[in-house]
Amino acid sequence: MTRPAAMRELSRRSRRSGETIGFVPTMGALHAGHLAIMRRARREHGRLAVSVFVNPLQFGPGEDFVAYPRNDVQDVRHCRYAGCDWLFMPQARTLYPADFATRVVPGPVGSGWEGAVRQGHFAGVLTVVLKLLEIVEPDTMYLGQKDAQQVAVISSMVRDLDLPVRIAVHPTVRERDGLALSSRNVNLGASDRTRAAGLAKALRAGKRAVRAGRRDARSIVAEARRTLRSEARPDAVDYLALVDPRTFEPISRLNGRGLLIAAIRIGRTRLIDNMPVAPARKEA
Ligand code: PAJ
Repeated sequence: MTRPAAMRELSRRSRRSGETIGFVPTMGALHAGHLAIMRRARREHGRLAVSVFVNPLQFGPGEDFVAYPRNDVQDVRHCRYAGCDWLFMPQARTLYPADFATRVVPGPVGSGWEGAVRQGHFAGVLTVVLKLLEIVEPDTMYLGQKDAQQVAVISSMVRDLDLPVRIAVHPTVRERDGLALSSRNVNLGASDRTRAAGLAKALRAGKRAVRAGRRDARSIVAEARRTLRSEARPDAVDYLALVDPRTFEPISRLNGRGLLIAAIRIGRTRLIDNMPVAPARKEA
């Protein structure tokens, strides 16, 4: 379905008859990561709504909006198999008519990392997510840990704007060699595909350093960077850092939980990933 009014009507009707609604927003080119989230949402709610919308607002001028993978026919099939009740595929001109002017601006949690490399990206994400929430009116919105900063930025919007929705975060779904599933992975050639797995290996090297007792962020990141250099041989590293998982402020010394985050480029493909790290036991 493409019309917001039709989507809203179905959702309201179900709510009136006592059903709860799970919602998975996506940009399509669905993969096993998306499907895992959908199946979970399906299990946890009477109704499952999925949106497929490549949101122009979250792409910068030099980015891959036009080249972003699209596969509507297969997406429809995937959604059906995953038990989706309502597949919402709005058109850009419906969500953003010519006089569309408003943006939801993220706070400090969205200013670094993805927000710094991709100016305006999170404002685009928040604006579309708020619109989708207003249309679908779900009980729970499901997001992937793969995009950890997106989760933090959206969670702060939900809190700050008193939006009546619960957020559930699904763990990152990975290939056997560790590569996080992503719609953009289809753009990786064979040799780039092998290098891409080096990103997860690097984050795991950082995690092992923490397990081995390292607490100094610089040394943990250096360990990850060494593996990144040798395994992924990235064409560029946008960032590789240890941050607080809620504020995304850099951490200098790991006391509680931390998040290793990274964004790299391999050939023309940009990859992002992250890994939670925590000391095994509190130090005395
Ligand atoms: P998209 O990249 O299609 O991702 C849709 C959802 O699936 C996001 O919550 C994302 O974090 C999650 N996801 C993607 N790959 C995953 C993986 N390997 N494991 C677990 N979850 C994964 O993120 C977006 O779209 C957009 O920014 C959106 C929120 C839809 C707004 O336009």
